[in-house]
Amino acid sequence: MEQRFAAQNLQAHPTAFQTRWQAPSNIALIKYWGKKSPQTPLNASISFTLANAVTQTQVRFSPKEEEDQKLSFSIQFEGVVKPDFRPKIQRFFDHILPYQPFLTAYHIDIESKNTFPHSSGIASSASSMAALAACLVDFEAQLAPMSEEHRLLKTSFLARLGSGSASRSTQGPMMVWGKHPVVSNSSDHWATPADNIHPIFTDFCNTILLIDKGQKQVSSSLGHKLMHNHPYAEQRFDQANNHLRDLLPILESGDLEAFIPIVEKEALHLHAMMMTSDPYFILMKPNTLQVIEHIWAFRKDSKLPISFTLDAGANVHVLYPNSVAKEVSNFIDNQLLSFCEQRQLLHDRVGTGIKKY
Ligand code: DP6
Repeated sequence: MEQRFAAQNLQAHPTAFQTRWQAPSNIALIKYWGKKSPQTPLNASISFTLANAVTQTQVRFSPKEEEDQKLSFSIQFEGVVKPDFRPKIQRFFDHILPYQPFLTAYHIDIESKNTFPHSSGIASSASSMAALAACLVDFEAQLAPMSEEHRLLKTSFLARLGSGSASRSTQGPMMVWGKHPVVSNSSDHWATPADNIHPIFTDFCNTILLIDKGQKQVSSSLGHKLMHNHPYAEQRFDQANNHLRDLLPILESGDLEAFIPIVEKEALHLHAMMMTSDPYFILMKPNTLQVIEHIWAFRKDSKLPISFTLDAGANVHVLYPNSVAKEVSNFIDNQLLSFCEQRQLLHDRVGTGIKKY
């Protein structure tokens, strides 16, 4: 038990409370892939917090007539009751209850929606767990006032117990999660903002090309498990930590030429892990490769600092500084859009994290 996040106070006479928070998705540059139970990452990761792809969550806490020590909640997503969302939320509550034991005195109604299409293949667990955690911590802060710093740390701490990458969705512009020797305040338990990010990266763009909008072929939980007994696991965890060590000074200096190979290697190595696990998977689609080759050819010809990353699926995240947004946008429309399912893409950029809405 992390004593620092034990709930301080129980309220003798509970009253109703309602709150609404939104949290963004994030895109990792150094990937978290492999964890120990319950939610301890096997290497440190860093991500851009996004601005437009957000989950908005409203939570109502209604005091129970009689406290029964059992957690009781309802969940609606985009106006529809979602029984299939319950197991994941139940597991989340099971994990966080030791840190918010007062929750059993209430019935909790959760209503949530995304600003991006649910069936886009974009992982929504990061934004949804961070938004829910923000609501829960806001409620706790009403019962037992806490500093802003503690509120943000506890939100990241609880969000991580729901989904590892959710720990990185609480603040911006870039968040580090996982203990790392060169990041002084880093922790396996919560994420913290990376210091001294060069302005070129605080204004970065991320266009998400929807290559395959279907259900994820490999869930993250299965994916992380595939790293147990993986023949290259130890080398991969070392590589990710070394990549982070090398990337941090680049993020400070704004050196785009050095940024690109690290970020693209990370994306390809994440997929290499999946191709070499047992069982093995290829999560890229033919159009993923087409897009990557077009990005490489365009970069060579135009000399513009455009690059890509991938998450655990076929979609491609195109990364570029805002200063070249016009040229890149023309390139995407003319050369990449035809590789997207139903010509769909999402324009996003670096953002700031959770907020009340
Ligand atoms: C490939 O955070 O979705 O996106 O902790 O099991 O919920 P759980 O996994 P999750 O894994 C994210 C994997 C990734 C890389 C990353 O975001 O760092």
